[in-house]
Amino acid sequence: MELMEAIAGRRSVRAYTSESLTRDQIQRLLEAAVLAPTGMNTQPWVFGVIQDPALLRDLNRRAKAHLLSTIDDASPLAGYRANLENPETDLFYGAPALIVVYAKPAVTSQIDGCLAAQNLMLAAYGMGLGTCWIGLAHGLLATAEVKAELGVPVECNVVAPIILGKPAAWPPAVERHAPEVAYWK
Ligand SMILES: Cc1cc2nc3c(=O)[nH]c(=O)nc-3n(C[C@H](O)[C@H](O)[C@H](O)COP(=O)(O)O)c2cc1C
Repeated sequence: MELMEAIAGRRSVRAYTSESLTRDQIQRLLEAAVLAPTGMNTQPWVFGVIQDPALLRDLNRRAKAHLLSTIDDASPLAGYRANLENPETDLFYGAPALIVVYAKPAVTSQIDGCLAAQNLMLAAYGMGLGTCWIGLAHGLLATAEVKAELGVPVECNVVAPIILGKPAAWPPAVERHAPEVAYWK
């Protein structure tokens, strides 16, 4: 696949088949992720992989409760309250896997983690897989309690929770604004 085709064709997928991913597929995605550039070549990333459906269900329930406990009327997420209160709402859209990109403390670790995340999402698209960054799960995953439960050192910061799987349907492209160029001298 042409690189520009992958960049243009990748979508945030919000409907998945129940087909699970192989270890090999996930390993290839992690290897693509670590090819990203990093500040001072620190390569500060650490990954968590969850394929256990019961654990994903539990994290979904707790992520919604965590968000509800933190949002007030002034929050940009206030409009999501009814959705978060709905027991049927699945923040992970039934995806068979969640990869969490973490970063150890380093000068540019959040940026490095984002670059790894984009590599991973593009590589997944190249392999016919869908992905979606689930920012709504960030708060729960960042708690010391959940880091301890999942088995990641508490100093590792959550960068990107990314669901992935075989898409049940590819969504239409979301329209982009033209690039805003402030200067071109
Ligand atoms: C930091 C970040 C957080 C996001 N969080 C969520 C989320 O919690 N749930 C969701 O459905 N999509 C989430 N998205 C996906 C965006 O909504 C999506 O990228 C955007 O609408 C553009 O669509 P596209 O990715 O298909 O081009 C997130 C994307 C980013 C970059």
